[in-house]
Amino acid sequence: MHRTHTCGELSLKNLGEQVTLSGWVQKSRDLGGTTFIDVRDRYGLTQLVVNTDDAADLRTKVKDLGREFVIKVKGTVVERSNKNPKIPTGEIEIKVSDLEILNVAKLPPFMIEDETDGGDELRMKYRYLDLRRNPVRNNLILRHKMAQEIRKYLDAQGFLEVETPVLIKSTPEGARDFVVPSRMNPGEFYALPQSPQTFKQLLMVSGFDRYFQIVKCFRDEDLRADRQPEFTQIDCEMAFIEQEDILNMFEGLTRHMFKNVKGIEFNDFPRMHYADAMRLYGSDKPDIRFGMQFVSLTPALSEGEGEDLVKGFGFPVFDNAEFVVGINAKGAATYTRKQLDELTDFVKRPQIGATGLIYMRHNEDGTLKSSVDKFYDEEQLKKWSAAFATDPGDLVLILAGGKDKVRKQLNELRLEMGNRLGLRDKNTFAPLWVIDFPLLEWDEETERYHAMHHPFTSPKPEDIPLLDSYPGNVRANAYDLVINGTEIGGGSIRIHDRKLQSIMFKHLGFSPEEAQKQFGFLLEAFEYGAPPHGGIAFGFDRLVSILAGLDTIRDVIAFPKNNSGRDVMIDSPSTIDDKQKKELFIETTV
Ligand code: AMO
Repeated sequence: MHRTHTCGELSLKNLGEQVTLSGWVQKSRDLGGTTFIDVRDRYGLTQLVVNTDDAADLRTKVKDLGREFVIKVKGTVVERSNKNPKIPTGEIEIKVSDLEILNVAKLPPFMIEDETDGGDELRMKYRYLDLRRNPVRNNLILRHKMAQEIRKYLDAQGFLEVETPVLIKSTPEGARDFVVPSRMNPGEFYALPQSPQTFKQLLMVSGFDRYFQIVKCFRDEDLRADRQPEFTQIDCEMAFIEQEDILNMFEGLTRHMFKNVKGIEFNDFPRMHYADAMRLYGSDKPDIRFGMQFVSLTPALSEGEGEDLVKGFGFPVFDNAEFVVGINAKGAATYTRKQLDELTDFVKRPQIGATGLIYMRHNEDGTLKSSVDKFYDEEQLKKWSAAFATDPGDLVLILAGGKDKVRKQLNELRLEMGNRLGLRDKNTFAPLWVIDFPLLEWDEETERYHAMHHPFTSPKPEDIPLLDSYPGNVRANAYDLVINGTEIGGGSIRIHDRKLQSIMFKHLGFSPEEAQKQFGFLLEAFEYGAPPHGGIAFGFDRLVSILAGLDTIRDVIAFPKNNSGRDVMIDSPSTIDDKQKKELFIETTV
């Protein structure tokens, strides 16, 4: 028998018991005669002790032990004289009677400790060793628990888990496809699913009613901390529902998960129109753990904003700007010149692209002081102060430029100020529904409209007449779930009518032939009794990383890719040999 107990479960209750444990040597300390060995497995750590009065061959074996050797020990549970209150097994140790080395180990390339000395790439190359570390393993345990809770909730709500194929054809989620050559069909390719979107809609036509799948999706896009080329969705679809039903069902799922995994309960999730999210936060995924909403200083009457407070005072930057907008960073008036310069450098970085930063301090003594005092007198600054509702101690930060650009820039600055002022606590969770997304989005590069969500998303019926005249103003029955400024999930009510779907394809620039070629199967299915339906997909990796309080989804994926999309452990992608290429009808290199 390899073990009677795990390395994480023995306590004073087991005093005097004969036990067998197996695991990895975390470390071994020879304190002149007495040797302490920490043996570790997935469940915890137990201290072993071997003394000078123990048998000579046992002492020799102990001397030979290196870090990460795999051992099996027999011994008696005894009370420790020097207790460690930090670990559950800290009150006992095992007085070893027999030790077997099951396998030796090379010295690991980095410390297998909670705080390790290994850099990112090294830990990725030896991911199987990194996975031995508690923090990394705990992330995967959390992921497992969440997957179980998701299945429990959805099963109780009558959802059926159905697997959809992985070798399919292009799905329109807006990224590039990964493709797979077909040996049996020369010159033809499968695409890996960017999502199971079309299949889940077909399942609704089949009458499945409530579908879900925890499923791998593949997208060939530039990678970021919250993006991997292969990632996992909690993909869901329902028939005979309206938007409200979906929001309630999946708010329920999110609550269930937080409650059962984290013990956190929420009030109803707030909802925000896309247009308000852009106006108040410059982002379709606002982090509402903190306020710091945008205040416009130029009139935007269509948005109900007031008087122009900046133009016509001789300050060319504001005079020439389409839009001047700012935030009130409460309590930051004490920022030094150096700190303000840092913020200016921050917004001027090429990734953000602002031309400069204007500020106004509301000093503790009540005076107002701006970086553009030359142009704006006290009287005018008082109006700014009123617009931003400043109190003594506040700092107003203002950007100017084209409306869309400046909103994006101010969004970055707002998040940066949120970080600097400690307003983005990882243990605080602020979920939010963003609703009423535009149906279409203008793409500068191709100079045409694209579906903002995907082409199967239904326009709001009352906005359909605008499709011809103001396509950009048509709103969709589309929604995102945002938590702490991260887009966790997105979905929509779908078009289930062939005629409307054809109109949509036309607006997206598909000729009837192209639409037929790419999505003919779906259009045809709509002619065989498609029920009204809609759904959502959550990014499972993102959801786990938010609950784990992590900044990157890599840490919640067992074997992730690096930033260039490589798996450095198995060294993939890699070249294939000419024979394989020939079979696949791929040109061979000369
Ligand atoms: P969408 O494209 O919004 O919708 O994707 C749903 C969610 O998946 C997550 N996500 C990602 N996570 C990690 N790495 C990526 N590269 C990545 N891309 C997306 C996000 C996102 O919110 N078929 C639709 C859903 C529907 O309409 O029902 C879809 O895929 O958290």
